[in-house]
Amino acid sequence: MIVSLFLTLVASATAAIASPLARARLHRRTAIGDCPGYTASNVVKTDSTLTADLTLADTACNVYGEDIDDLKLLVEYQTDHRLHIKIYDAALNVYQVPDSFMPRPASQNASSSAAAIQFNLVEDPFSFTITRTNTNETLFDTSGVNSTLIFESQYVRLRTQLPPSPNLYGLGEHSDSFRLEATNYQRTLWNSESPYIPRHANLYGSHPMYFDHRGSAGTHGVFLLNSDGMDININNSPSEGQYLEYNTNGGIIDLYIMAGPKASDVSKQYAEVVGLPAMMPYWVFGFHQCKYGYFDVLDVAEVVGNYSIAGIPLETMWTDIDYMNLRQDFTTDPARFPLHKMRELVSTLHGRDQHYIVIVDPGIHATPNYTPYSDGVSQDVFLKNSTGEYLGVDWPGVVVYPDWFASNTQQWWTNQFAKFFSPESGIDIDAVWVDMNEASNFCPYGCDPNGTASSGNDPPKPTSTPRNNTGRVIPGFPPDFQPPTSSKVRRGSPGSMTGLSGRDLLNPPYAIHNHRGRLSDYTIYTNIINSNGIAQYDTHNFYGTMNAFASREAMLGRRPGRRPMVLTRSTFAGAGTKVAHWFGDNDSNWDDYRISIAQMLAFTSMFQMPMVGSDVCGFNGATDDKLCSRWATLGAFYPFYRNHADISAPPQEFYRWPLVTAAAKHAIDTRYKLLDYIYTALYRQTQDGTPLIKPLFFKYPTDPNTFGIDLQYFYGDSLLISPVTDANSTAVSFYLPDDIFYDYWTFEEVRGNGSMVTLTNVDYTTIPVYMKGGSIIPIRANSANTTTALRQQNFNVIIAPGLDGVATGSLYLDDGDSIVQPGITDINFHWNGKSLTSNGTYGYQGGSKREAGVVVESVIILGQENSINGTARFNKSTGAITVTGPWGLTGPFEVTPGQ
Ligand code: NOJ
Repeated sequence: MIVSLFLTLVASATAAIASPLARARLHRRTAIGDCPGYTASNVVKTDSTLTADLTLADTACNVYGEDIDDLKLLVEYQTDHRLHIKIYDAALNVYQVPDSFMPRPASQNASSSAAAIQFNLVEDPFSFTITRTNTNETLFDTSGVNSTLIFESQYVRLRTQLPPSPNLYGLGEHSDSFRLEATNYQRTLWNSESPYIPRHANLYGSHPMYFDHRGSAGTHGVFLLNSDGMDININNSPSEGQYLEYNTNGGIIDLYIMAGPKASDVSKQYAEVVGLPAMMPYWVFGFHQCKYGYFDVLDVAEVVGNYSIAGIPLETMWTDIDYMNLRQDFTTDPARFPLHKMRELVSTLHGRDQHYIVIVDPGIHATPNYTPYSDGVSQDVFLKNSTGEYLGVDWPGVVVYPDWFASNTQQWWTNQFAKFFSPESGIDIDAVWVDMNEASNFCPYGCDPNGTASSGNDPPKPTSTPRNNTGRVIPGFPPDFQPPTSSKVRRGSPGSMTGLSGRDLLNPPYAIHNHRGRLSDYTIYTNIINSNGIAQYDTHNFYGTMNAFASREAMLGRRPGRRPMVLTRSTFAGAGTKVAHWFGDNDSNWDDYRISIAQMLAFTSMFQMPMVGSDVCGFNGATDDKLCSRWATLGAFYPFYRNHADISAPPQEFYRWPLVTAAAKHAIDTRYKLLDYIYTALYRQTQDGTPLIKPLFFKYPTDPNTFGIDLQYFYGDSLLISPVTDANSTAVSFYLPDDIFYDYWTFEEVRGNGSMVTLTNVDYTTIPVYMKGGSIIPIRANSANTTTALRQQNFNVIIAPGLDGVATGSLYLDDGDSIVQPGITDINFHWNGKSLTSNGTYGYQGGSKREAGVVVESVIILGQENSINGTARFNKSTGAITVTGPWGLTGPFEVTPGQ
């Protein structure tokens, strides 16, 4: 007995972690169900806080690592609608998401008695509940069967009981249904590159945030600020009930509970925690074209020319890794994308008010005589292992990865941008696209980066022989841009393309369900230690966000004072405060077309990342004219609207098919007329977190029919979008809540009664759009070829009265580009059933003379039964009254039809 106790103590000591076992206790691995949990003591309460010590019972748990015996509990009533619950190790050795990356919201020390939600402690065994003050409804409850808190060196478990059949949303990034499944469902959060977007798998981003919607009982939100890999299980079992359970590979419990009670309140309250999203330049709402595999700069220019010939407005042209020499960042392929030609391309685009964006990957080619690498080595900016720079494999071949925590990295990165993207001597990009930043590594764990050519992971290389472009004519480009008329063979490009110590950072005892395999498969090894002493094991999930943030800083350095736009593939909670996101490598099929709506709903309304969209027409595989027409149309109602495809996919620019051309023209025309409406919605989100895209339940929270809807949504506050979602069909059945709507195309009034409506004749160039009663929507009277020209168009104001006959709306105007605006205009419209009043702030002077002269041309009032005399025109068949102005946008006005 004495011997075995002695052995146990020795074993404990050898496995000792930074928080050594405080007491002698039986050191054995326990079945998870027998974990004893903690006991709370020394409970101290103030009006706005509660603190306690949590001590592990005298039996060990040690299910996946070593127990941490002594914990601290801190509960803060941070505001009257937000509770912060922090459970952390008393010794303060366990990794916590650094404040430098994610600044925590300060507590406003709200009084618990005035708070909308309450923390209730059970001391032994320790558990807690969160209840809604006014109804006593339990929102979070850790006291269930098999729910004891487990807090170990490499495993933390926290479980909450939920009511049956919960309506839960969030926990991205994923490509599952918007409302999460509640039985045998698992969400794994471990940022990973994926060649496609598999269902039920971890994807590029981690957002440990969920919304719990309970109909008339309200909505609340729960955010776990923890960046370690985790599985979140949602299950319903006869013995354990309905629950949600976090299983993390480490970190602490840093929980923020947001009271709502409305869903959009939760959105706003989450923005108070992670930060309000960044305002984007106006032009970013224009249409973007991209493809991986444009062969040379002429191909890129030709696409621009073809858009112009087809009469499809193209705002921004993109170039993928094709432009690089040997796939190296900050270089151009001298034969296929020579710098001087790239500069001509960009200046031609800029001359026509179009924009240009290129891709930059974080993996830096580890090769001599390549300045970004040699500069980085001398400035000590790359991640290291015990023998030197840590190597992986990406497009250029063997790469090193920037350590975003190292003190010189930002400056080094900014310098690369300053040189290569210099407006004077480099490529004057308008925004940047950062990819492969999970980070991706073509080498799975254990492979030799230098031997990847034989491992089957060799990335596709560019074709080494350039085409003979002699005599080729690039439409719409000036003569000196054109290829030579006489034959001269161009030479080919060479072608190729700290936390606790003692942890197992490669293969933790608890293996999360990373669909790419082990933690370190296809990414930076998780045992690599950042310069600040923290392991990739803990920070992996925000590597890409740090890369994107550093890129934003670098863009700011190039164009101080102007809003940067950075499109990133990998994200973490809070990424929306600075950057935009697309949903990665989807497939050109109807499933991925449909799921893009759920993805958009989650990012915009729940993760505070509004500037998002999927690759329109699909990235992998061949699209077809029907799918691409529908997607061109749906994409016009995403915040971010870009057609993009893989190198192996056939070309899919909108002008390739007559049907898609027609669909895209109509879609872009509609999008542009509505651009100021959605720009206003983005501005609102950047001010208070009100989402620019809303799920139906946000608007109809007590109508259970809306809770599961993820094929319809509100674009802005007022437009209900119900796309056709069946393959090759012109029919769609969609839900119309009990409310009054107006057909956006015909102005016809439609009374919804909480049932499905079927349309059978929705051709490929259109999409059902309804204005919600109670809205006022400012639209540009005409569309334009570019967003610059669009800004010179006049407005019409459409009034869609609600069931009570009144309506409201707003219009925000600024210069579309400056971070600090010299003056803004923010107008509120109000229709009281008889008159429209328009007033607000009038600080925007207009960027150019023509913009300054923009007026409201006419006011259109829908749903009217009788004509009104005077200047008003009445359309009997639609019930719309049109009153013709003009009214200026430089001061208040009032419109009373008939007067
Ligand atoms: C992967 C990205 O997801 C895709 O959009 C891009 O085209 C390729 N990398 C090549 O850069």
